[in-house]
Amino acid sequence: MSTIFQRAHLLNPAENLDATGSIRIDGSGFIESVSLGSADMPHNDDDRVIDLDGKLLVPGLFDMHCHFREPGQEYKETLETGSLAAAAGGYTGVALMPNTRPVIDSPLGVAYIRHHSALLPVDLEVIGAMTVESRGETLAPFGKFRSYGVTAISDDGTAIQNTQIMRLAFEYASNFDLLIIQHCEDKTLTKGGVMNESHFSTILGLKGIPDVAEAIIVSRDLQLMRYLQQHKLHDPLNQPRYHVAHISTGAALDLVRQAKLDGLQVTCEVTPHHFTLSDEDLFLAEAKGNFIMKPPLGSAENMQALIDAIADGTIDAIATDHAPHAAHEKDCPPDQAAFGITGLETAVGLTLTELVSKNVITMQRAIEMLSVNPRKIMNLAPVHFRAGEKANMTIIDPEVEWTVTKDDMKSRSQNTPFIGRRLKGRAVGIYHKGALLENH
Ligand code: DOR
Repeated sequence: MSTIFQRAHLLNPAENLDATGSIRIDGSGFIESVSLGSADMPHNDDDRVIDLDGKLLVPGLFDMHCHFREPGQEYKETLETGSLAAAAGGYTGVALMPNTRPVIDSPLGVAYIRHHSALLPVDLEVIGAMTVESRGETLAPFGKFRSYGVTAISDDGTAIQNTQIMRLAFEYASNFDLLIIQHCEDKTLTKGGVMNESHFSTILGLKGIPDVAEAIIVSRDLQLMRYLQQHKLHDPLNQPRYHVAHISTGAALDLVRQAKLDGLQVTCEVTPHHFTLSDEDLFLAEAKGNFIMKPPLGSAENMQALIDAIADGTIDAIATDHAPHAAHEKDCPPDQAAFGITGLETAVGLTLTELVSKNVITMQRAIEMLSVNPRKIMNLAPVHFRAGEKANMTIIDPEVEWTVTKDDMKSRSQNTPFIGRRLKGRAVGIYHKGALLENH
């Protein structure tokens, strides 16, 4: 039995495909044929024919920044519930940050996640810790990570504060061609902070996080990269590669923009909450716990700088930073709330509503930022719509209007500030690992 997606809007920026067409997939999940045009594909009686009537069929979305909390904090999320949330959001693959309990700072943790991922509907890539227990003191075994197929390392949730350790991380990572993903936060400035330092934090009486804490770490790291390159101190075969996680300030964006012009191997990602919400939204919200995250929601100026950088191409990818927390960790005074919000199930809707519908970017660029570029940045194989390739795709209805509700969520946690938000555009299914998973 084959599955045929008919009369789809095939949009795959990885191969410059933007046309009406159909895809036929065999019983083992491999693409048999792709045909362009709106004619029906010939089919057998036992084939499953799905008429997409112009809905988008795009390469499976990939989220390069997720927290699934297993092992150790399964009351927030498990590999299984996180995968179901990812599939519901239209993702066929995610990269998991290592700040679990214990931290994934050895191949053992990588093997644990890989073992479990075999039975789940989405691909799970593992990002290894940069330092043991992410304490910023002793480098993790990068070479062993590499031999277990890890392509990126990060101490997400925190950043290496010691510049000498950071220098060694750059050199060591280049030996194994690993991407460094940095959570850019100068902890001496942010200690005890709850929200962006501004007149809103003053009025609320909450300790502020100065936004310059981000650019200080980006600047230090880019200086280190420049130094290592000037003096050829990295592996001669591999230039260091550096990715700024959840970038949130204009100052950090200016540094990334310049570094790209200078030819450094630098990329960055933005989260939907940072390009849609500001500290004023936190100020106005009644229940503030779900507006607390790191980096914090910034000023309106920083939010506009993000939108400008999405439009001019400085920002390469959209990532969710899906950070589930239980109700008791968020339904509490803001200075006691855990940092982070869920994001997998709202990212497509927010991107289409706030960026594509408002002409900040085209649909093609949105798919690049949600699928093609995250894979490229992480050195993963691109997804092609060609005969013989594994079928890995997401179905998006760009027209459907819907309201975000708690009941709809597949994640074990519902700590999102977007409950009640009206959105236009939604992922309505994925086809991956030989199975169609429909969402609504
Ligand atoms: O808000 C956040 N939560 N930011 C991070 O960088 C980490 C994440 C988490 O793990 O909860």
